[in-house]
Amino acid sequence: MDLTAASGGILDQRAESYVVTVPEGRRRLSGAAAQVNARSGGVIAGMRRDGLLRGTRGEITVLPALGEMPGKRIVVLGTGDEVKASAHSLRALAGSLVRRLRAIDAGAVAWGASGALAAAGDPEEAAVALAEGLVLGSYRFDRHRTREEDAPAGAVRSLCVVGGTARQAAVVERGLARGRILAEATNEARDLENEPANRMTPTDIAQHAMELATSVGLECTVIERSEAERLGMGSYLSVAAGSVQPPKFIVLSYRGAGRARPLALVGKGITFDTGGISLKPGAGMEAMKADMSGAASVIAAMRAIGRLRPRVNVLAIAPCTENMPGGSATKPGDVVYTMDGQSVEIINTDAEGRLVLADGLAYARREGASAIVDVATLTGAMSVALGAVRSGVFSSTDRLYGELERASAAAGERIWRLPLDDEYARALRSEVADLKNVGGRAAGAITAAKFLQRFAGETPWAHMDIAGVMSVDRDSGEWVKGASGIPARTLVRLALGRSRG
Ligand code: BES
Ligand code: MN
Ligand code: ZN
Repeated sequence: MDLTAASGGILDQRAESYVVTVPEGRRRLSGAAAQVNARSGGVIAGMRRDGLLRGTRGEITVLPALGEMPGKRIVVLGTGDEVKASAHSLRALAGSLVRRLRAIDAGAVAWGASGALAAAGDPEEAAVALAEGLVLGSYRFDRHRTREEDAPAGAVRSLCVVGGTARQAAVVERGLARGRILAEATNEARDLENEPANRMTPTDIAQHAMELATSVGLECTVIERSEAERLGMGSYLSVAAGSVQPPKFIVLSYRGAGRARPLALVGKGITFDTGGISLKPGAGMEAMKADMSGAASVIAAMRAIGRLRPRVNVLAIAPCTENMPGGSATKPGDVVYTMDGQSVEIINTDAEGRLVLADGLAYARREGASAIVDVATLTGAMSVALGAVRSGVFSSTDRLYGELERASAAAGERIWRLPLDDEYARALRSEVADLKNVGGRAAGAITAAKFLQRFAGETPWAHMDIAGVMSVDRDSGEWVKGASGIPARTLVRLALGRSRG
């Protein structure tokens, strides 16, 4: 989809589909809606008068190009109560709109969106959200659909956002370009997550990361099993022990600030989580192909960071492996050693995320990270606590949490802070080792976070448990059924917010 901005009236643009917005209520039509109304013999005003069109948020009415209208069709988008308009509502509207446009094979589209952009606040940020909505909402994962009827071909070839002065259009165009890059990161994470585990092994992720590095000019290092052994990553390797797929510990480095200490993004990369010897029940296990969503989001974020080039150094670390119950698999009761020399008694092999992250965090610290954010589909308990609406975030410092809160609010990927009181760590005391890998049933997401905290040391650190939000159960606004790609855009914005100068 070609995304552009143009100044002037909507009817100065040549298009097949003309989209105009109409707010709820009786206010007189203005802007593009008034122009299209006049050219079409007053159809919009007439339909409003007759109660056929109300302007409620998300209402979409498709009409033929009546009267003297050019092109093939008029699409009237309801924007609801203008007082409640925001970048978030615009993102969602654009997401719903683009799915409908695709369904009607809208072709070349002109959207008179300047009214909706102005109502949403800061014009450039509004344009970012608009582009995000369009790019996110049109996402599909249909590469394994071989029959055409299962993957209908309707398309939005191009979309031009029309309105305002030339200077305003230039601002909108800048926002659109940035929004596209951000949304493409989310879609890339979604692609990696939606791909089944037989086609997204640790080797496949490593391949993807290397290609990404080449295409945007990052450095990529893949630490193989033998090297991980030499580095003492016994915790990470214990998870790989039961799998025939070689583990890959992936490191991507973006340098935008010379020798400054990097921000480290550590993502859990379990390409399939069977639970290992502590085997999971069969029902719904297929969802565990997305247990690499943390890795997917940190890797995908690096492409956007590489394209936007903020003045900051960023390191993405993705310890990737399957968690399988093979003959050489780790057993409950086994004791392993992490890279920083701590011993861990493995009580439950299904609590594997924290085992790979322990070495991921220790590695980030060894690389001199100035701050560490880890992202993981870590606990079912997180999804019990917050459901599919917000990610749970734990942080040792208010400052880093504040940065994340701002980034997530701007991205529209909501978070909620949870506590890290030291009492919660009691549950991790082991009879034989420095700590064990599970607490009890109580506060499962928090005890998991306390486990991780042991490996972040004194480095400012935040942990995002995305288990509840890793997938979406229906199309709605910018969200598309399937993998969510959360929190790729939050991570990109976090990095942008740390840019110097
Ligand atoms: N990958 C799972 C957590 C998960 C569950 C993510 C559901 C997304 C949806 C994780 O590795 C796991 O199995 N956690 C266990 C931990 C327990 C054994 C302490 C859990 O939550 O049951
Ligand atoms: Mn598990
Ligand atoms: Zn897992």
